[in-house]
Amino acid sequence: MSQQQSRYAVFGHPVAHSLSPRIHAAFAKQVGLSLRYDAIDVEPADLQAALAAFAADGGRGANLTLPHKQSALALCAGLSDRARNAGAVNTLVRHEGGWFGDNTDGIGLVRDLTERNALDLRGRRTLLLGAGGAAHGVAPALLEAGIGDLFIVNRHPEKADALADALGQPGRVHSRYWNDLATQGAFDFIINATSAGRGHETMDLPFGIAAGRTLAVDLSYGEAAIGFLAWARSANCAQAIDGLGMLVEQAAASFEIWHGQRPDTQPVYLDLRALDVVLSTGD
Ligand SMILES: NC(=O)c1ccc[n+]([C@@H]2O[C@H](COP(=O)([O-])OP(=O)(O)OC[C@H]3O[C@@H](n4cnc5c(N)ncnc54)[C@H](OP(=O)(O)O)[C@@H]3O)[C@@H](O)[C@H]2O)c1
Repeated sequence: MSQQQSRYAVFGHPVAHSLSPRIHAAFAKQVGLSLRYDAIDVEPADLQAALAAFAADGGRGANLTLPHKQSALALCAGLSDRARNAGAVNTLVRHEGGWFGDNTDGIGLVRDLTERNALDLRGRRTLLLGAGGAAHGVAPALLEAGIGDLFIVNRHPEKADALADALGQPGRVHSRYWNDLATQGAFDFIINATSAGRGHETMDLPFGIAAGRTLAVDLSYGEAAIGFLAWARSANCAQAIDGLGMLVEQAAASFEIWHGQRPDTQPVYLDLRALDVVLSTGD
């Protein structure tokens, strides 16, 4: 019987410029594993069929990126608490009964901020911009990391309401209208979890939401993060950090789930940072 090679992949649309194949290849080399990790472009309507074909062809694990993180939830035979709480999946593991869904975005962001950047998130009055797949992934982990009140705004406000409701902490989590941002005072921590920068779209953000103590974090990196990080510097934020470190940390957490080994993220992060000028957008 021929031995089928175990396959791993990231599914997205678009996905051609994803750095995940490069990151997983570097992790595999580091721990002496031979594996195949591809980037597979799939339209939302075709995700179920594509995952089934992938599993039949030796697919053992997958990452999901924009726009599949929330829709993939329904395709999973089982879910981790992290994925259930987030209402979004970025990591799939093939089990006999089907796909098991997990979410490493939140732990990836928290590890990048608290370990790589040695930041204390506890008690910070926090503003989350966006209510898509990434926002769903990071919000529960930020609450667990001990942030203070969490305010969520989204271009389509009903999604901010839905995320706030799903987080289930009414005294601590609040949704607000984007147009009301100017009256909300300054935040200690502002996270851009929108994809506005990918389309070179600008967001209307009043300077009054930032103060000299504010930590500003964009989940995007490369060109897509330029606009928000420039705004953060103009608004005199204490620190402005992009999503490259989170990207490497969420990948490392997926790698550990699949292979049972935790790679050293710092050399991979530093290699990518050195390439930052040519980095594309996405996760
Ligand atoms: N560093 C990492 O590891 C990592 C991991 C995950 C995601 N990300 C990045 O996070 C970003 C969001 O990803 P996602 O998966 O959450 O995407 P998504 O599910 O498609 O959600 C996109 C979000 O952006 C908002 N948005 C889009 N254009 C906007 C604009 N012009 N003004 C204001 N809001 C806008 C959307 O608002 P509406 O709902 O109103 O459309 C929605 O909240 C992407 O740039 C992605 O690359 C990075």
